[in-house]
Amino acid sequence: MAKKSLHKRLYFFTVFDMIEDNQERSECLEKELRLDKFLADMAQGSRSQIRAMAKNGLITVNGVTEKRPERKIRIPDDMVTLAGKPVSYTVMEYFMLNKPKGVVSATEDKRHKTVIDLIQTPSRRDLFPVGRLDLDTEGLLLLTNDGALAHRLLSPKKQVDKVYMADCLGEVPGTAIQMFAKGLILPDGLCCLPASLVICGVRQRNVEDGIRPPADNTPPFVKDTQDACGTDDKITTVRLTIREGKFHQVKRMMEAVGCPVLSLKRLSVGPLTLDPKLLPGEYRRLTKKEVELLNRL
Ligand code: URA
Repeated sequence: MAKKSLHKRLYFFTVFDMIEDNQERSECLEKELRLDKFLADMAQGSRSQIRAMAKNGLITVNGVTEKRPERKIRIPDDMVTLAGKPVSYTVMEYFMLNKPKGVVSATEDKRHKTVIDLIQTPSRRDLFPVGRLDLDTEGLLLLTNDGALAHRLLSPKKQVDKVYMADCLGEVPGTAIQMFAKGLILPDGLCCLPASLVICGVRQRNVEDGIRPPADNTPPFVKDTQDACGTDDKITTVRLTIREGKFHQVKRMMEAVGCPVLSLKRLSVGPLTLDPKLLPGEYRRLTKKEVELLNRL
């Protein structure tokens, strides 16, 4: 438990740190930026690689070779090229990812591939995931370097709707709908905000459904197939809309009504809906309209 909350604290420390750092950076972007930082932000190499490239005469500013990495670049007026190719400065970048299972929602990780590793064509090197999906959860994840937007989406005050589809073990009792609507109280005393639960269907559990232990040792709490065999032969598919994003929230809520989550997918966050064309692991840039919708939050 102590380990979990430490992990949680570290995660939020990192994200909110990045957001603050990013806000500071956004303010100075409007004016001027050092040449080496300009190119490093655009993922053209590390600051030291860029210094070496400048020394080798590979960089021009407004058509003139520039060897000084500290040279100030005025955005968007100055034209920068690297090895003959123009490099323009993207201030904000937004990707919608269909996060696959087995990939961690972080910018760095020693054991697992991260969601950032999946983005092959970023302009920016400072992308981060907005919020977190568990290792074994799939679905919509926004990746951006827009700290202000991330702050709005994650702020508990904004109560942005998040919609999930989950397959749960057993038959979800009809009474759960009202309990969720009123605001469920979890066994550990945590009071959840009112949430909407829709029971989409109940089916017979098949051998293929299995029950795997969670890859990151987090809920669902069913340890292996044997535990559940014979006790529950049904699987209920539910659609759950929550307005907060506490640690393992959906899994804990479903567990509290006796139906541990077997698989979980996020479909939407506020006005942003997962593009059905994206397979797990695929991503695309947000459209202007989607960014506008998010900016209205
Ligand atoms: N709730 C969970 O339990 N897990 C997630 O990944 C997201 C919401």
